Amino acid sequence: MIDPRKNIIKERLESIKRIVAVSGGKGGIGKSIISTLTALILKDDGKNVGLLDMDFTSPSTHIILGQEKLPFPKEEKGIIPLNIDGLSYLSIVSYTQDNPTPLRGEDITNAILELFAITRWGNLDYLILDLPPGIGDVLLELLVLTRKIEFLLVTTPSSLSWQTFIKVVRLLKEQNIPIIGALLNMVNSSTYGFEEKIISSGVRYLGKLDFYRDLERYIGKPDEIMDTAMVKELKDILEDVL
Ligand SMILES: Nc1ncnc2c1ncn2[C@@H]1O[C@H](COP(=O)(O)OP(=O)(O)OP(=O)(O)O)[C@@H](O)[C@H]1O
Ligand SMILES: [Mg+2]
Repeated sequence: MIDPRKNIIKERLESIKRIVAVSGGKGGIGKSIISTLTALILKDDGKNVGLLDMDFTSPSTHIILGQEKLPFPKEEKGIIPLNIDGLSYLSIVSYTQDNPTPLRGEDITNAILELFAITRWGNLDYLILDLPPGIGDVLLELLVLTRKIEFLLVTTPSSLSWQTFIKVVRLLKEQNIPIIGALLNMVNSSTYGFEEKIISSGVRYLGKLDFYRDLERYIGKPDEIMDTAMVKELKDILEDVL
């Protein structure tokens, strides 16, 4: 059956110049922190930026932004995203607060369709999507939903994250989805040759972010985090590609 929401979604996304999904496959590699910081960096650069937390089961971007609880977004011929620190922002937390949200396949499909169909992002230069780990429903649904999407990939210098990273790369390449590039996160003493591995997978290597021991201090303090060395490193990495 044709879902009428799919046509509406196309229209809704027309006012967004670039949709950038942050993924990488493996869990806990820094997707949420990198997507949130990317959104804040672009916003500080004067761009109109949206951030959508697509991790419906364990959302984290609101915590990075220092929002323990989120109000309901206003409804006016659709949902108007919240304004958090100058970002147009949406997360399932507005609806669930801190209750668990066990969602199954079909519920996830519906949540994504609904979100994209009814959200009025308005004119955005960038919509940044924080994806959950894995090559599961959210990633697959997203690829069905819109072709107007680019991927910023994250991995760590570890064979364990590499296994999933390379699967995501293969999937995106098979589907002809643009990959902006990949960055190595949480680099300690060595990158263990993972730059070369990224390059030989046919993905642009964007650069590395060190492991910052005191990052935790800045979680929930978006103003302070923007003055950290991590953000400076990320800015340099993103400058050429976003
Ligand atoms: N470069 C870094 N240096 C130090 N700590 C980091 C770095 N990047 C991320 N972290 C920390 O690692 C943990 C995981 O980060 P984050 O939640 O962003 O990962 P994720 O890939 O989104 O995880 P999930 O797959 O669960 O969504 C967090 O505690 C975060 O603060
Ligand atoms: Mg995350």
